[in-house]
Amino acid sequence: MTYLSNKNIVLCVTGSIAAYKSVYLASLIVKEGANLRVIMTESAKEFVGESSFSGITHNEVITGYYEGKTELSIDHVSIAKEADLIVVAPATANSIAKIALGISSEPIVGTILASKAPVIVAPAMDGDMFNSKQVQSNIKILHDLDMIISGPEKGRLASGINEYGRMTEPDKLLEEINKIFSKKKDFENIRAIVTAGATIESIDPVRFISNWSSGKMGIAIAEALRDRGAKVTFVHGRMDENSINGVKKIPVLSAIEMKDQILKEIDNNDLIIMSAAVADYRVKQKFEQKIKKEKLSSIDLEKNPDILAEIDNKKIVKVGFAAESENLIENAKKKLSSKDCNLIVANDITLEGSGFGSDNNKATLVHKEGCDDLPLMKKSELAHKILDRTIEYID
Ligand code: PMT
Repeated sequence: MTYLSNKNIVLCVTGSIAAYKSVYLASLIVKEGANLRVIMTESAKEFVGESSFSGITHNEVITGYYEGKTELSIDHVSIAKEADLIVVAPATANSIAKIALGISSEPIVGTILASKAPVIVAPAMDGDMFNSKQVQSNIKILHDLDMIISGPEKGRLASGINEYGRMTEPDKLLEEINKIFSKKKDFENIRAIVTAGATIESIDPVRFISNWSSGKMGIAIAEALRDRGAKVTFVHGRMDENSINGVKKIPVLSAIEMKDQILKEIDNNDLIIMSAAVADYRVKQKFEQKIKKEKLSSIDLEKNPDILAEIDNKKIVKVGFAAESENLIENAKKKLSSKDCNLIVANDITLEGSGFGSDNNKATLVHKEGCDDLPLMKKSELAHKILDRTIEYID
């Protein structure tokens, strides 16, 4: 038995050059034991043939509203009611717009509208198209409709440029599909903000103050929350990679911007986990022009707000981190009370292979009832340990 055994999965293929990847995705899903129905748009047929999918799935492919290929013969309704999951891959700008607005001129949107199953959308298009205001606002609508957006990934696009626009690779999509059926959903109906990465405090147009946070710890927490059913808003500073899917991303630069975005969102949330490395100070007078090196002898700083401490909504569960190089537990306990947190994840950043930039982290969970000392482990594993403790504070 696999997680996909006997699951009814619908694969919606739209007209992108990436449609060839969907043939492999179909094969991967069928090999896992799922019953796969494929729906294609007319333009998808310009890139791949129906018979590739019917050969792999042993099911007739739906391409129009009036084909009567299911028992009920109203194909989109019949397929929608049985579906455990709908995957739109590749999803073009056109299909994303139609899904966002519910324009059901062809059976893919009709099926999505008639179904209560979770939907994964894997965009594939030119990088500038994906970044356009229209596509981004439609993607936001899909997020708000609780759909999972997978990718797009960065790589060489059909136009020859190297940008975000490639459809998520089939193996990775299969992983995401498996996660939907495999994880415990103890954070279902929970809305959470996760912060990650490093804030940037500009000195002038070329220089800034920052730190070595890669964003990996925050990404691991946001993914764990997403997989356990939470709706995640991911507020992030500069990160080494930006590969997370299925969350609402809000990029920021400075600590002040991070604070403003968090305060805008906080009352719609139940939980905040702050793994971002926030600069404690910013430059007092930011220079509009590059400072000549002869004049750059010292910089005046002023204190940044303590974001966690300023969140005073008692309904919000607050989890902070403490990045310490000495007196780990003592300092973490001070932060637990000064920032009024439910939990502090204390990490000793002097340990080799742990903390900033590493794939692993060694932490102690510090809370009012005591301390749980954890061994060095993958950040993805630590993220789940943090959530196992955090869930106890959520009503
Ligand atoms: O990103 P990675 O490379 O994966 O590295 C992970 C990490 C080491 C950055 C992470 O595990 C970590 O320790 N993050 C917190 C870093 C930090 O800023 O620690 P701090 O002890 O200075 O701050 C304590 C807490 O207050 C943190 O939750 C921080 O987000 C928050 N804070 C800090 C300053 C500030 N002005 N406002 C805040 O809210």
